[in-house]
Amino acid sequence: MIGFKPEKFIEEAVKEIKNSVDGNVIIAWSGGVDSTTTAVLVNKAVGERLLCIFVDTGFMRKNEPERMKEVGKALDLRIKMVDAKNRFLSALKGVKDPEKKRKICGELFIRIFEEEARNFEAKYLAQGTIAPDWIESGGGIRDTIKSHHNVGGLPEKMGLKLIEPLRELYKDEVRKVGKVLGIPKEIYTRQPFPGPGLAIRIVGEVTEERVNIIREACAITEKEIESAVAEGKMERPWQYFAVLLPTKSVGVHGDVRAYGYTVVIRAVDSIDGMSAAYSKIPHEVLQKISTKITNELKDRVTRVVYDITNKPPGTIEYI
Ligand code: XMP
Repeated sequence: MIGFKPEKFIEEAVKEIKNSVDGNVIIAWSGGVDSTTTAVLVNKAVGERLLCIFVDTGFMRKNEPERMKEVGKALDLRIKMVDAKNRFLSALKGVKDPEKKRKICGELFIRIFEEEARNFEAKYLAQGTIAPDWIESGGGIRDTIKSHHNVGGLPEKMGLKLIEPLRELYKDEVRKVGKVLGIPKEIYTRQPFPGPGLAIRIVGEVTEERVNIIREACAITEKEIESAVAEGKMERPWQYFAVLLPTKSVGVHGDVRAYGYTVVIRAVDSIDGMSAAYSKIPHEVLQKISTKITNELKDRVTRVVYDITNKPPGTIEYI
C-alpha cells in the first residue's frame, strides 16, 4: 500500500472491531509479529473479552513457550497456554506428503481452538492472516502454491466468526503497526515463523527425534547469524533458519563412521515473503554454523549445506 499510515489503520481497525464484535473472542496467539499485532489491536477494542490461546504444538523454537509467557504478561494480554505436543505428534505419525502435513496441522490447530472457544463461550476467532497468506493459498486469481496454516486448514463450518484485521497488509506494514502499538522491538522486528512451525522444516515424516534435531539446528543458525550481524560481519537477512532433509549420508567422527541427516541452512532477503533472494552470507559465518551443528548434533547430522535458491523458483520454506 503506497503511503500506508499505521496510526490511521489502527484507529479504523479498532473502531471496526468495536462496532462489529458483540461477544467473546479467542485468538491464535503464537507470539509472532502478525498474531501479536492482531491480539493487541483486538485487545484495544474488546479488552477482557479477548482470550489469547497459545498452543504449544511441540514445533516451537527453543525456549519459545516460556519466553512467550513473559511477553504476554508485559503486553497485558489475557493468555492461556495449551500443551498439545502429543496430539500434534500422533496426528502426523507416518505422514510424508507436504500438503497433508499442512492440512493436518491446520485442522488440529482449529479443533483445539474450537475446544477452547467452547470453554470460553467465544463467538469470534481472531487471526493474524496477512495478504500473502491468502494470495498464496489460492485466493483471487492465483493457483494454490501452498495451503498456509492460517487459511488452508480451516474446516468449512468452524462455528466461529472470523476477525482478520491484518488481511490486506503486507509484513512491512504489520511491523509499522506493531511499532505504533507499543509492541516490544524484538517482537515487531522478529523474523517470520510459520504457523505449523518446525513441522514444515522437516521434509518427510515428523518424528520427535527429527523435531529435536531441527529445533537445535534452527537455534544454532539464528544465534550465529545474529552474532555475526552484531559484529558487523553481515546484514541481518529477512528470514534465516535450518531445514532437515530425510536423506542420510556418510560422515566421519574421529575415525568412526557415522550415518546422519542433512541439514540445510536457508537465509533469504525479502520485503514481504512473496519473492526472495538468497542471502550472501560470508563463508566464515557459514563455516561456523556448520561446525556447531555437526558438533552439537554429532552422529545425528553429518552434512550441512547452504541453499542458494531464490523465490521463485524455490519457496522460502521447504513444505
Ligand atoms: P513460502 O515458503 O511460501 O513462505 O515461500 C513465505 C513466507 O510465509 C511463511 N509461511 C507461513 N506463515 N503459516 C504462516 O503463518 C504458514 O503455514 C506458513 N508457511 C510459510 C514463511 O516462513 C515465509 O516467511
